[in-house]
Amino acid sequence: MRLPVIQYTGTEGVLDLGWGHPDPTLLPVEAWAASTSEAVPAAGWTALTYGYAAGPGQLLEWLTVHIGAIDGRAPEPAELFVTAGASQGLELVSSVLTRPGDVVLVDSPTYHLALRILADRGVELRAAPTDEQGIDPAATARLVGDLRAEGRRVPMLYAVATFNNPSGASMPMPRRRELIRALEGVTIVEDDTYRELAYEGPVPASLWSLASAGVVRLGSFSKTVAPGLRLGYLTADAAFVRRLASRGYVDSGGCVNHTSAMVLAHFATTGRYEAHVSVLRDAYRRRRDTLVTALRSAAPGVEFAVPGGGWFLWLRVPDAASLARRALERGVGLSTGERFHVGGGGGHHLRASFSMYSPADLEEAAHRFAQALPPPP
Ligand SMILES: Cc1ncc(COP(=O)(O)O)c(C=O)c1O
Repeated sequence: MRLPVIQYTGTEGVLDLGWGHPDPTLLPVEAWAASTSEAVPAAGWTALTYGYAAGPGQLLEWLTVHIGAIDGRAPEPAELFVTAGASQGLELVSSVLTRPGDVVLVDSPTYHLALRILADRGVELRAAPTDEQGIDPAATARLVGDLRAEGRRVPMLYAVATFNNPSGASMPMPRRRELIRALEGVTIVEDDTYRELAYEGPVPASLWSLASAGVVRLGSFSKTVAPGLRLGYLTADAAFVRRLASRGYVDSGGCVNHTSAMVLAHFATTGRYEAHVSVLRDAYRRRRDTLVTALRSAAPGVEFAVPGGGWFLWLRVPDAASLARRALERGVGLSTGERFHVGGGGGHHLRASFSMYSPADLEEAAHRFAQALPPPP
């Protein structure tokens, strides 16, 4: 028996828009292989030994400049910490900030697998109150006050404020500033995984870049380069980064993914990163546009907003669970909305990812989905 190699292998005959994975044909196999074969001999043994706790200097230096170009401000090197992806960043940050029994607030809808990571901490997850612009700062501050009055600790709020997974929505700038002002004593953990997959117009500055402290921003190379690298980074105030770097396991093992980080630094400083992300933006924009057009034509009754970036359409439907079942019978997979909520909700939404398939497959998926819709009354 062959043991599995990869997380997702698919089901014969199903176009599975339920998974937020990259199109395999868009993974940079040759450019990564070339970077490895150049970077490792150039760095010699320093590429393979234990790495500096916060990440190798080459990558930190490039990130300071790069983040300055894509976000509201450039971090100091002391405000950066290389992680093994946004998921590990969240695991690490939440393990520093929370204790079992705490309340952790999350946006709604939100990244369903972040809910799993947070649940592993033994915390109680609560949805922050939201309106059509995202998290409602005043209502959330009141909720925090009420919880504290009951003797509960509320150490953190997790949010995907830019190109949200699953909704694709981005919190407007004034709302970002209000949220930072409103949430004193609650660390905002901002998952900024999709910032660079922007298909038009400027992207709002991150909450982290607008705040002097109290926000940790999680970045990832999974969507811009490859998830198998298990590589990301976070930005936070220098004191918080020192707390992370002094964790026992970092002290023991050094940078959590040193060799990949060294190769990434080479991939980036040789211009391959920018070139690749530019190819991805064009390719994913085309996939988004194809699915949008195909759905509008085949399923005109299904409402959705066109996201300015990221990988997802958030479809408003009458009954998500039964429609997802019927769609699967016709060979198209979708994620049901309730997975992206805590405490109920999502019964009228399906998430469709346009990242994994070619435009032709996306057209076929829209066609199959339309056949699964109940006939109009
Ligand atoms: C919002 C969000 N955060 C984090 C991740 C996972 O990131 P990583 O692969 O860097 O752990 C994903 C992947 O789907 C995501 O959509």
